[in-house]
Amino acid sequence: MIIAQLSDIHANGSDAALERFDRVLDWLRPMAPDAIIVSGDLAEHEHDASYQAIHARLSATGSPFFVVPGNVDDHHGLYQTFGKQMGWSGARPFNSVGRVGDQLRVIGLDVTVAGAHHGDAAPVLDWLTAELNSDGPPALIFQHQHPFLCGIDGKDRNICRNGHALSRVIAAAQDPVLGVTCGHVHRAMFTRFAGLPATMAPSVARANRLALDGREPAISDPPGLLLHHFHDGRLVSHVVMVG
Ligand SMILES: [Fe+2]
Repeated sequence: MIIAQLSDIHANGSDAALERFDRVLDWLRPMAPDAIIVSGDLAEHEHDASYQAIHARLSATGSPFFVVPGNVDDHHGLYQTFGKQMGWSGARPFNSVGRVGDQLRVIGLDVTVAGAHHGDAAPVLDWLTAELNSDGPPALIFQHQHPFLCGIDGKDRNICRNGHALSRVIAAAQDPVLGVTCGHVHRAMFTRFAGLPATMAPSVARANRLALDGREPAISDPPGLLLHHFHDGRLVSHVVMVG
């Protein structure tokens, strides 16, 4: 089972943004992923046209796909293009659940806050508690903002708040949870959250500088993605940069 995670496309009406997306999709094509998840910030300007362009490209892959909103997304536009397919009612939050075969569940958690760049897990905890205690298959949770401290200078201002409460819900779940994965900071990273592996996908759009403890090298990262490989009950996440 191969789940491709793309994140932070930041389409804006320019050809350049969609060309980066196309490069990632070109690399991905031979992998024929069993599902594609997009962990937010699909578009930052020209939202309606950008969502239609992204939807057309994702549909052309032939893989089932799931999206969650990010902080620069336009929720109304996202709903217009993706809402029916995701099973959204039109009222926020825009959570989603998908089955990948009969062995794996992807849970898209909408932790965005209207008008803010940070996220907040508190409004979706009851929904997630019910979903994670429904006798379902192992779940991979994806969301936009990171619920863990990433340590990059200035980037934890816009964290997903109430991460402790989120981690308690995940740790107490009866259903197996494989991990939590996100986007938002435009860098691949790996840590632990709620006692589980936690990952962040690299961005399709320009990366952020890896600024740690006041030290700042130049940005040289090409667009990238994560490939989550689920086999015999174990999950291995691969980072791929598309140079
Ligand atoms: Fe973001």
